[in-house]
Parts: sequence; structure tokens; C-alpha cells
Amino acid sequence: MSVEEKKIESCPTDTETLWQFATHTSDAYHDFTPKEAAAIREALLTWYRSNRRKLPWRGDAGPFDGSTAGIASGNGKGKKKKADTKQKDIQSFFTKTSKGTKKDVKSEEKPESSGEEIIPVTGYSVWVSEIMLQQTRVEAVIPFYLKWMKSFPTVADLANATEEEVNAHWAGLGFYRRARLLHSGAKYVVDELDSKVPETVDELLKVSGIGRYTASAISSIAYNKCVPVVDGNVCRVISRLKGVANNIKAPIFKDKIGWRLAEQIVQAGDGLHAGEVNQALMELGATYCAPSGTGIDENDPLKEFYISTKIGREACDIVKQTGSLAIDDYVSRAVDARGKVACALCQPDGIDSILFQLSDDLQLAKKDGLTNDDASIIGHQAFPIAPPKKAKREEVLGVAALYSSIENGDKKWFMVKRPKDGLLAGQWEFPSALVWSSADDKGKKTKKDSAVPKIDRKTLDKQTRTLLLDIQKNTTDFQFWDDSLSLDLVNETPMEHIFSHVRWSMHCHVSDLSTSNPVISSAYEQTYTNKSNGCECRWMTEGEMQGVGITSSVRKVLAMVKKAKISSNGKKRKR
Ligand code: ADE
Repeated sequence: MSVEEKKIESCPTDTETLWQFATHTSDAYHDFTPKEAAAIREALLTWYRSNRRKLPWRGDAGPFDGSTAGIASGNGKGKKKKADTKQKDIQSFFTKTSKGTKKDVKSEEKPESSGEEIIPVTGYSVWVSEIMLQQTRVEAVIPFYLKWMKSFPTVADLANATEEEVNAHWAGLGFYRRARLLHSGAKYVVDELDSKVPETVDELLKVSGIGRYTASAISSIAYNKCVPVVDGNVCRVISRLKGVANNIKAPIFKDKIGWRLAEQIVQAGDGLHAGEVNQALMELGATYCAPSGTGIDENDPLKEFYISTKIGREACDIVKQTGSLAIDDYVSRAVDARGKVACALCQPDGIDSILFQLSDDLQLAKKDGLTNDDASIIGHQAFPIAPPKKAKREEVLGVAALYSSIENGDKKWFMVKRPKDGLLAGQWEFPSALVWSSADDKGKKTKKDSAVPKIDRKTLDKQTRTLLLDIQKNTTDFQFWDDSLSLDLVNETPMEHIFSHVRWSMHCHVSDLSTSNPVISSAYEQTYTNKSNGCECRWMTEGEMQGVGITSSVRKVLAMVKKAKISSNGKKRKR
């Protein structure tokens, strides 16, 4: 018998798990039995206690896992790999190349890490770490967390900090609204709760910026209350354990039924150590059960429990016996069996779309000889369903870098502070005019990213100038510039800056105001408030920019305009 034939023979013939999945009509199908939940909880605890990553918010001393790059992890959903059951260290999931939706932080934005001292696990320390971790990768958070806890070791220290100090510590982490809410939450705890971070979910929910996820994480991790925690990673694990045919962002899953299912695991057995169980689920979802996880890795503590891998093997059996067309027939029979009743947790066409995807993937993979392991991986990676792709909003900006030289040869740059809410909330930047936005381009409501039109110099100049004159009119009586201001366009090809849901195309202008307005006045030392939008503005040296924390887009613009100015000065001198 050839190796190939032997592999095919090893596929199971029993299709019970697949049929139950294909015909289920109630979300009760996804509930864990008490025995199953207890076994899963036990496996998670055992794994977590001997494999968990060493991290500063877990009361560990440095060096921390994730501070250095490891071995490359899997290469993302959709790229089905040949089964590889070789032992993989958990550290290997910390890598610069691993893909994810979470923000990474560029190395120049990371604060110096110093992990010599152990930070005790308290309600406050868990709160800070969980807020930082919400949209940012673990390895990126570590240096920010260490610096933060050094500067603001207690909730009272944070409450007493200025907004500027808080923003400067957050600069580079992204999603700046988180910093403002954490700061105002700390003030509430100090003023109203005698500086004691609450222990229960209900009390924690009263603190601004603390939602159900953060409240449950603090309550279970810091105070060991028996409550579940659900994030996208936990939903992925549950989807694979219990055959949930939906995406992890679906409200019915992440906000509702996912909590019931996670609770069954956390409360199983003696219900103790909820903080560890929750962190184990999250950690597993970020590592062995990441989108590229195989479900058969020998170090995956739940490899015996996934329905996803069984479904893959049983679907493989059907395809091998009867060809992929048989799946059409299988789906029709399942649809008939379900009748008009639908599971509340699965997406309306979720079950069928998983079955068709399995059929396609198995059929494609068969060409190279399909093993049992291949079928398991295909089944595993079919869950959860990929969320619909959102198009990024495109924005074209006319940026103005205005400066005046000061005595010591340094320069003061005109900076504005962004509004308290929204993108880059509260961060300082160069003034920028929104010249074009796909959000205003009504005709283009497609799922694809919109094409960005080329904006001519004249339009860029006009709109940037209008913005600057508007700022001048609304901020101060001191005349920093007027409509004779000369704006030099530095880059006709836009400089791109990408956020999670917006892409900026920036055209930068530079203007030297030194001769028309040399810095001789205290006007350059003041902070002004724009009367029309309440935003602050002021002149800053580069050193002062560091003090308030500037983000990478500002750094990029600054580097570009400085380079352009130097080269244009150089050219002038030569002539
Ligand atoms: N992701 C977010 N918070 C986490 C935690 N406390 N443990 C593991 N992964 C996490």
C-alpha cells in the first residue's frame, strides 16, 4: 500500500459530528456539558501554569517574553499549511512578522524598557494593562506599561498627573481616547471611591472607560472573582471548540452568547482561579489558537476538544468517498433537516458557508495527497468565519509646517492639538486641512478602498491657506501670518500614513516665518485656544514636542520638511 493510500484510509468514516453541526437549530447546541467544561478548564490551567508568558502585569520580573523577536509563527488564515506538529515554544508567537489586526508600535516610538522591579498585581495595574492591550500587541505594550507604572505607580499618581503628562506617556500607543478615559477614570476612583479600584463587575462598570471586558478582567485577575472575560481571541477558541459558524465580531457572539459559553468554562469544577482560566483562554487564542493555529499542535492544550478538527476530518471523508459535489447534496439534506429554524448564534448562512468552504479547501488540498492532519487543519481554520472586510476611509490632507528660528539656532514650529475625541485624540500635530475624504464621496460606497484622486497644487495651497487664515483669525490678535504667507509644497506625491480604519495621504507645505516674524515676542510662548473649535495651539521647539509626545505621522512630516528645507537652502546657496 502506498503512503498516499494509507493516509486516505486513516480518515474516519463516522460523520456524526459533522451532521450534528450541519443540522443544529438551537444555540443550545454550542453549550458545554459540565464534564466537558471541567476537562477544558483543567487542561487550560495546567497548560497556563507551566507555559504562560512572563509579563510585567502578571507580577513577573524581567526579562519578559516578547521583549525579543522569536521564531516566525503561522502565516495567517487562508494559507493552509501542511501539518507540522513539531513542538513550538510559546515565545515563538512573539514575532515582528506575525500578522494581526492589533496595532504594532514602531521601534522609534517605544519608551526605554526597564523591567528590574516587580510590579504587584492590583486592580489598578490590571486596569492599565488591559486598557493598553485592547488594541495593541502584547510585545508592543511592555515598554509603555513599564514606563507608565514607573511614572504613575498608583491610581492617585495617575489622577494627579496633567493631561499633557498622560498624553506624552501614551504617545505611540495609538487609540488615544483610551488614555483620556483611563485618566478620568482614575480621577473618579480617587475622588469618589477613596482611591480603591472596585472589585465587582457592577461597581467597575460605573468607572468611565471601563466596559464589560475590562471590568471582568480586573475583577477576575486582580480579585479572583469568578466571572468570564470575552475578547476576540476567546471567541475564536470557543468557535473552534463548539462549531460556532459566525465571525468573532458578531454582536450575538462577542457581546452575548460568547459570555455564556465562557462562563461555563470559568465556573466549571471548583470555579476557583478564574483570573488564570481567563488569561489562559486569551493567551491560547493569541498563540496556538490564533487564526493560523492548526488545532493539532502537540502543545495545544485543547487539541482533544476542538469540534473544528473533527468536522474537517469527517468532511474529508465525504469528499474522498463521493467527490466535492456530494457536499451540495449533503448541504441540501441538512437544510431540509433544519427546516425554518435557525441557530441564534450562527450567522444565517454560516453553517452552509463553512460546509462549502470545507469542500473547496479539501478538494484543492487533495491534489497533494490529503492526510488526516491536513483535513484537521482545514476544518480548524474554517472556524470562525472571517468578518466582512471594511474599507478604509481615505483622506487627503494639506499639512502646513510653519516655523520661526530662535536665537540659539533652534526653531519654533506651529502646532495644534487634536480634539479630545476621535482619531489621535488630544495629540499635537502640524495644522492640516482635509482636502478630500472618501466619506464625502457619496457615489463610492463599495467594500473596496476608494481610489484617491490626484489633487492639484492650487487646490492644496488654497485649502491649506484657508485653514491657516482661519486659525489665525480664531486664536490670537498677534499677527503670526496673513494671506501673503508663502507656502512651499514639499511633496507632490503624497506621504501615506495608515491607521486601522483610515489612510491619510499627506501633502506637506513648509514656511519659514523668521524674516517676517522673528521670534522676539512672548506671543511665541503662549498656548492659544481656537475660539471656533476649542482646540489649543502653540509654538514648540522639537524638544518641547518630545515633552508632549508626538506621534509617528508628525515625526515623519517633520523629518521630510526639514530635509526638503535643507536641500532647498543648499541649492540656493550654490546658485
Ligand atoms: N490579552 C489581553 N489581556 C490579556 C491577559 N491578561 N492575558 C492574556 N492575554 C491577554
